[in-house]
Amino acid sequence: MAVQHSLYHETGKISVDSQRCKLCGVCVKNCAVEVLQIKDKAVQQVDASFGCIACGHCMMVCPENCITVSGRNLSAKDLQPLPPQEERADAESLKNLFVARRSVRRFNGQTVEPELIEQVIAMASSAPMGIPPWDVGVVAINGFDAVRKLAGEIVEGYRGMLKLFRPNVLKLMRPFMGQASNDQFKDFIVPLAHKYIEAWEDGRDAVFWGAPAALIFHHSAYAAEPDAVIACTYAMLAAESLGLGNCVIGGAPPVLKRNKGLCSNLGIPPGNQPSLALVLGYSAVPFKRGIVRRFSHEQSAGLH
Ligand SMILES: Cc1cc2nc3c(=O)[nH]c(=O)nc-3n(C[C@H](O)[C@H](O)[C@H](O)COP(=O)(O)O)c2cc1C
Repeated sequence: MAVQHSLYHETGKISVDSQRCKLCGVCVKNCAVEVLQIKDKAVQQVDASFGCIACGHCMMVCPENCITVSGRNLSAKDLQPLPPQEERADAESLKNLFVARRSVRRFNGQTVEPELIEQVIAMASSAPMGIPPWDVGVVAINGFDAVRKLAGEIVEGYRGMLKLFRPNVLKLMRPFMGQASNDQFKDFIVPLAHKYIEAWEDGRDAVFWGAPAALIFHHSAYAAEPDAVIACTYAMLAAESLGLGNCVIGGAPPVLKRNKGLCSNLGIPPGNQPSLALVLGYSAVPFKRGIVRRFSHEQSAGLH
């Protein structure tokens, strides 16, 4: 049995070079799904629960480098050297990146180099996912005109939605939607739709903020949305580290999710759900100060 994926249906296959294996058991101890055992003086893959998910951990921890995993879009070729400790981001440099990061909504006229977008995507793909391999995709839209064209389609989608969610209809739907969802529509989605439309009619793009590039993350029915959200979060931080202004856009998915034709034109596979978008560009407004934010609830156990 294998954990299902939209493209891969097999379990990972683990091979151990028994000549070089010293039976240290590190791979067995570290296996998240417990499919490795030492039996008859050899490390063996056993048929347990949902099988090897091909996370690659056994290959990465083996002191003898004598394990290879294949299947589920993984092979030994995917191993890469670890950066030396002194070249890894430390808490101070990460904290500084976080403090200086801001959502950028005003971009100068500069386009984004395609290589930078590729770098953002490559860095984001190192994010963790619920179950490997990634069942998340990303659409890169590059160029002011291409992003603006998509913004126009999102605005049109909101125009259609407004016809549907008139105040009296929303009132009738309250028992079915629940109070919080109804309030969210009434107090946020509907005014947001009006804002998008008014700005558009005024010649402004309030969806993607006139950005020169955008990424749209989507996930298959076999992956949960948090996978796409975490991928987008990594892309945001990667963009920040590369000097690209960026802003997560949650305003686009509600329309994209309802428009299969638009998703298909963007190359999102049928059955995949669009999730967050991330706009990229060069900021036109430098921030002079950071800000402290707090979670709404912080309970702690055993901290003091
Ligand atoms: C899930 C999510 C969705 C968001 N959607 C939008 C959006 O549609 N439009 C927008 O201008 N900003 C959007 N933002 C940016 C937030 O408004 C922004 O993070 C917040 O105002 C705090 O500002 P900061 O990022 O500079 O700290 C989104 C952020 C997140 C995390």
